Amino acid sequence: MIEVKNLEKKYGKKRALKKVSFNIEKGQIYGFLGPNGAGKSTTMNIITGYLAPTKGTVKIDGYDIVTEANKAKALIGYLPEMPPLYADMKVKEYLMFVAELKNIPKGERSGAVEKVMKETFITDRSGDIIKNLSKGYKQRVGLAQAILGDPPIIILDEPTVGLDPKQIIEIRNLIKKLGKRHTVILSSHILSEVSEVCDKIIIISKGKLVAADTSEGLKELMRNTARLKVTAKSNYKSMYAMLVKIKGVNQISTAKKIKEGYTSLILKVDARNDIREEIFNIFAKAGIPLIELSLEENSLEDVYLKLTEKVKDDDDDEDNEDIDDIEDIDDIEDNKDNEDYNEVNEDNDEDFEDYEYNDEDDEFDEDVEEDYDEGEED
Ligand SMILES: Nc1ncnc2c1ncn2[C@@H]1O[C@H](COP(=O)(O)OP(=O)(O)OP(=O)(O)O)[C@@H](O)[C@H]1O
Ligand SMILES: [Mg+2]
Repeated sequence: MIEVKNLEKKYGKKRALKKVSFNIEKGQIYGFLGPNGAGKSTTMNIITGYLAPTKGTVKIDGYDIVTEANKAKALIGYLPEMPPLYADMKVKEYLMFVAELKNIPKGERSGAVEKVMKETFITDRSGDIIKNLSKGYKQRVGLAQAILGDPPIIILDEPTVGLDPKQIIEIRNLIKKLGKRHTVILSSHILSEVSEVCDKIIIISKGKLVAADTSEGLKELMRNTARLKVTAKSNYKSMYAMLVKIKGVNQISTAKKIKEGYTSLILKVDARNDIREEIFNIFAKAGIPLIELSLEENSLEDVYLKLTEKVKDDDDDEDNEDIDDIEDIDDIEDNKDNEDYNEVNEDNDEDFEDYEYNDEDDEFDEDVEEDYDEGEED
């Protein structure tokens, strides 16, 4: 439906987009996600023909957005970041004008306008002058002009910005409804919004594409860095000796003596291969009571932060435009710093309040970061 290939955009010397490529399939809702300044609006402006790319191509249902602009644009309804409203027009008057621009036959215009006003909850404002509307109502008029005429592709740049919570829910529901019959792309920097509404997520950061997948697929990307908390009535040395032998334990990061005779460890594990049963059996065989065994997978939020933070801003380095390196999960894993683990402990401060320092066990005096090689690693 939409094919974006090696898109580049320069604003003067600033490279806002760096070889961005992705495909949009028909009939799905796509979330275009990225931090402020990532290049979301720039990409959307190019896809919709509002802005010319510096390099690269965009095809809308086969039509090139630059060389066959009219045919391509006719397929798209667009709500830009700054909706193109005529401030002195009344709401309905403006929408009738847009209907004419969109070549909606004269006899159908009024009906089409009434329909979109109803869908965006602005019917009662149809006679108001646009400049007197509140920001949220202006946003809804912008949305109404985008969906007017039922274009097969609807592109919305931050559609819920400026709306109150009730309206956000109503607009999200409208987007979901639109997604049943249309291809929808919406940008947002709010992950929860995108994961709730969208079938697919495209993430960009600093002008580069970092991921394009379903939210489940994105979580899968980082399932090899899940955390497993193991608490047992035992000491660090014995537990370590047993756990170190288990394939799938990538790191034993934190050791805490939670009260006399009990120890808690945080393991970094590959959650694609659940080792909880194996741990249970080994501890049972050794006669060590297992108190807790809890797996904490990376949330979509964790994945999003890791993916976007990792991107280098190689603005000055034109030749170094490799986007493949971003998908190297090992790098992401290596970058994982101790803070994450400390957080885990802070959350469980109560659990650890009885922790006492013990000379004999001074190797796990504080949070111990124990990296070790698996020995028989692939
Ligand atoms: N007209 C312009 N002239 C110069 N630089 C620009 C222009 N428009 C955007 N930029 C720069 O290009 C980069 C991408 O901007 P863009 O507006 O596409 O980001 P965004 O992802 O939409 O951000 P936001 O979430 O804040 O809307 C930013 O660094 C921005 O400063
Ligand atoms: Mg923007």
